Amino acid sequence: MARKVGPAIFPGSFDPLTNGHVDVVQRTLNIFDRVIIALLSNAQKSSLFTLEERINLLREEFKSYGERVEVKSFSGLLVDFARHEGSRVVIRGLRAITDYDYETQMALMNKHLYDDLETLFLVAQESNSYVSSTLVKQVASLGGDVSKIVPERVLAALKRKFS
Ligand code: PNS
Repeated sequence: MARKVGPAIFPGSFDPLTNGHVDVVQRTLNIFDRVIIALLSNAQKSSLFTLEERINLLREEFKSYGERVEVKSFSGLLVDFARHEGSRVVIRGLRAITDYDYETQMALMNKHLYDDLETLFLVAQESNSYVSSTLVKQVASLGGDVSKIVPERVLAALKRKFS
């Protein structure tokens, strides 16, 4: 019999949440009962949205899923957070081939640190394959239209930031 894997963990910076992230969460819920969205709290990395703003946006966005989606922040190693949450599965979205190097490096390093932890990659839908938080911020800051690639509440938050 397969061993229990606990909740799936979907880690990231989510600065800000995009439709690509939303798709990954929804598809993860087709496979796992519960997902913990693990927001990296990194004082060294400058972000557009504060940790609190990002947590609130994520919680609001996934409110309708109830207990199936939890949003938590973590600092330090992802493997320690996963152990603490009793999880043996990390989910990451893969867009283009350019993600592959970085993502496999992280997955293998995490496996080196915690052999029981598996990283599962969900291939981004074609329509989201070019969507990244970095580009969203750049385009929005220059007045470009990102309404089709971020959730409505994120769009409103971006407008407030750049107004
Ligand atoms: O959305 P991002 O910025 O691509 O997410 C990166 C993240 C948060 C998954 C990664 O930076 C991470 O897991 N950081 C925690 C530190 C850690 O565990 N490092 C060793 C694994 S390579």
